[in-house]
Amino acid sequence: MVTDTPLLRVEGLRTALGSDGNNFDVVTGVDLELREGETVALVGESGSGKSVTALSIARLLGPRLRTVAGKVLLNGKDLLSLSEKGMRQLRGRDIAVVFQEPMTSLNPVLRIGTQLAESIRRNPVAASSVRDRAIALLKSVGITNPESRIDMYPHQLSGGMRQRVMVAIAVAARPRVLIADEPTTALDVTTQAQILDLMQARMAEFGAATLLITHDMGVVARYAQKVNVMYSGGIVERSDVHSLFAKPAHPYTRGLLNSMPRLDRPRMGRLSAIEGLPPSVLTRPKGCPFQPRCAFRIDKCSQKPPLESIAAGHEAACWRAREIASLPLDDQADAPAMRSGS
Ligand SMILES: Nc1ncnc2c1ncn2[C@@H]1O[C@H](COP(=O)(O)OP(=O)(O)OP(=O)(O)O)[C@@H](O)[C@H]1O
Ligand SMILES: [Mg+2]
Repeated sequence: MVTDTPLLRVEGLRTALGSDGNNFDVVTGVDLELREGETVALVGESGSGKSVTALSIARLLGPRLRTVAGKVLLNGKDLLSLSEKGMRQLRGRDIAVVFQEPMTSLNPVLRIGTQLAESIRRNPVAASSVRDRAIALLKSVGITNPESRIDMYPHQLSGGMRQRVMVAIAVAARPRVLIADEPTTALDVTTQAQILDLMQARMAEFGAATLLITHDMGVVARYAQKVNVMYSGGIVERSDVHSLFAKPAHPYTRGLLNSMPRLDRPRMGRLSAIEGLPPSVLTRPKGCPFQPRCAFRIDKCSQKPPLESIAAGHEAACWRAREIASLPLDDQADAPAMRSGS
């Protein structure tokens, strides 16, 4: 059931690279909301800052990155103001993260049953039932022969099985919020769908919320109810999934949608992709960060457009968003819309 109060609210999150006085913002002031029972997607090209956003929320940034502003409110409590000890108590149980690469999440020297048990014990449970629960969880994420696999080490499992185990461990603690950062990207499409289906079913069982990070608009369409499009460290469009696919209002979102394979019409030539490269944090242009790649560009784009409401539940950061949202989504019309960043 979806309720009105957000479970997780991220406000003005800014995370920077570099030491004091030499900061480059990687995440430039991001707001996000996740309500109970919801799956919200965060989508964007490689390097747009999706993982850094996830790591900032869970406070798992490495030494070179630092969150310099903003709030991460989980049930009203700001995670950024907690001590490291306070954060450790919440991590896993209130907020869990699954990453793309299972070998960085799984401990190579512990049997998977031990790692699952640790996660199950984050909630009160009778010691005698832990193993049974662990086996049931492995089964629920589609692992066959869980009774014998539970005693294996991560390296004894295939890549797909390790991804399943990672998802099982993350959901075992029944987190209120799960951040899934491309948890299945390296896998074949069938296994990817199985794992995401299972993850979503488990999260729905206890009314939790998921932030699903992906660069795949097909995954967004299938699993999310709301979507945030990220470009160069900021959110450039936010909407319910239906409006975003029907009336994309940011030229970058149109580019992402046009680069999706379509079954409903024949394709001449190669798959269209967005031309040009996304800016690095060091070369981000002033004003709208998309302007060097955008054929809808006008003089005003030298000022950064704010993320503004253009319709109920639909916001975009583009001076021409209303006009662009009314254009048909059509490869031919869009072809000249993207130009090289060089
Ligand atoms: N530890 C780090 N040290 C230095 N720069 C970093 C670090 N982590 C990320 N960056 C930089 O921050 C920017 C955003 O990276 P991030 O990993 O968040 O992108 P992403 O959207 O998750 O991309 P992908 O789709 O490839 O996973 C990139 O320019 C990247 O080079
Ligand atoms: Mg990433």
